[in-house]
Amino acid sequence: MRIPDYNEARTRDKREYKRLDFKLDKEVLNKYSGKKYFIKTYGCQMNEHDSENISALLEKLGFTRVDNYLDADLVLLNTCSIRENAHNKAFGMLGRLKHLKLEKKDLIIGLTGCMAQETLVVEEILRDYKFVNFVCGTHNLNELPRIIDKSIESNKQQIEVYSREGDLYEGLPVVRTNNYKAYVNIIYGCDKFCTYCIVPYTRGRERSRLKEDILAEVDELIKDGYKEITLLGQNVNAYGKDLYEDYNLGDLLEEIAKKDIPRIRFMTSHPWDFTDKMIEVIGKYKNIMPSVHLPVQSGSNKVLKLMGRRYTRESYLELFHKIKDTVKDVAISTDIIVGFPGEEESDFLDTLSLVEECKYDNAFTFIFSERVGTPACKLKDNTSLEEKEERLQRLNEVVNRYFLENNKKLEGTVLNVLVEGVSEKKDMYYGYSETNKLINFTSDSILKPGDLVDVEITSAKTWSLDGRIK
Ligand code: 5AD
Ligand code: SF4
Repeated sequence: MRIPDYNEARTRDKREYKRLDFKLDKEVLNKYSGKKYFIKTYGCQMNEHDSENISALLEKLGFTRVDNYLDADLVLLNTCSIRENAHNKAFGMLGRLKHLKLEKKDLIIGLTGCMAQETLVVEEILRDYKFVNFVCGTHNLNELPRIIDKSIESNKQQIEVYSREGDLYEGLPVVRTNNYKAYVNIIYGCDKFCTYCIVPYTRGRERSRLKEDILAEVDELIKDGYKEITLLGQNVNAYGKDLYEDYNLGDLLEEIAKKDIPRIRFMTSHPWDFTDKMIEVIGKYKNIMPSVHLPVQSGSNKVLKLMGRRYTRESYLELFHKIKDTVKDVAISTDIIVGFPGEEESDFLDTLSLVEECKYDNAFTFIFSERVGTPACKLKDNTSLEEKEERLQRLNEVVNRYFLENNKKLEGTVLNVLVEGVSEKKDMYYGYSETNKLINFTSDSILKPGDLVDVEITSAKTWSLDGRIK
């Protein structure tokens, strides 16, 4: 049994780590043939992509996937710790699984992802959730097949969570969610330690993958006919810093852009590490999508400082405008937190005025959620939840106004769309534009997911656009 410890998770050093090739233990290959698994993913794209690896590992063990947890022999929750909400959802699901296990004694229940890295969560599972068969952390997914096998063979709860990152495993198997869009990890972890954020504790220090490994994965995806790849990391802009003197995200993007892949995306970017070279490369290549996610979190210098964000309102705006001026028709999206401890009405008004200036194409807005173990927990907070909710509502009114305003400008234009499928109402196709806008459209010809088509925009809504195929 290994239980995570935040004091250890917090530490950063230059300790060498190895790049190793994943090898599946032959003894467990197809050992559970005929058994079924259900996986539920909470949180960000990193977790979605981890679930693609976890699913593949389960399938190597012989499990086949089902879409309803009631049909499964093994239920795995791949969890998220970013806000209390995600945390509560996973515990809610564990509550339902507890009841199910009363009827279905052999049901195997497992937990992976960021919550597995939280000391308090693991302690709670040891105390109150004895029916959970295994917990495996984010740093040792390579051990998951062995952990699952041991939990079944021994019929004893297995808790295997390392506090700190270990070696970096390449070649983990993957079953991708679809065959035209793919995620590619380029960097793991985060060293920024924004004071509200749990990620540096649950995902460890920044570790870049070797460029050769990334490029080989991209080549493989191109060979398999993929149309869009998204380069993933908690902070992709730090790519390469830990490995190379003179090779960063700009260089990586450029090398990938020269390949025959129609769409390249990347996320998430911390404003701190955004170099001029990156902006120049994004503007230069047509297959790097003009879409940048640039979380601002707050428009108040006082709050930015308390958050430990390493930039000011002024330097953020300078970067924002540099990107807008260099990358033609770029859409910039953001994340904003309201109700951070110490945020006063005047600070919130600074956030609103920044939004008025940036007129974002998309924004994810949150109320601050206290995460145990992060420095923000110790800050004094005088604002009531009611007031925070009211601020969130006021903020949403402003961001939504600009979503619609920006979308209206696209009426009458023609946008290139990557087709995803047929909309729920069944009478339209849907897909995403280069700037990541949701487009619902009609077409006389039959289309399939992964087709790239030009669509004339006929009308704009706040969160989507309607159109017809050109
Ligand atoms: N409370 C609220 N929002 C948070 N985020 C990260 N940590 C917290 C927290 N403790 C938001 C940030 C980040 C996004 C992924 O989630 O806006 O950019
Ligand atoms: Fe969290 Fe900040 Fe790292 Fe983003 S950059 S993952 S908000 S600590």
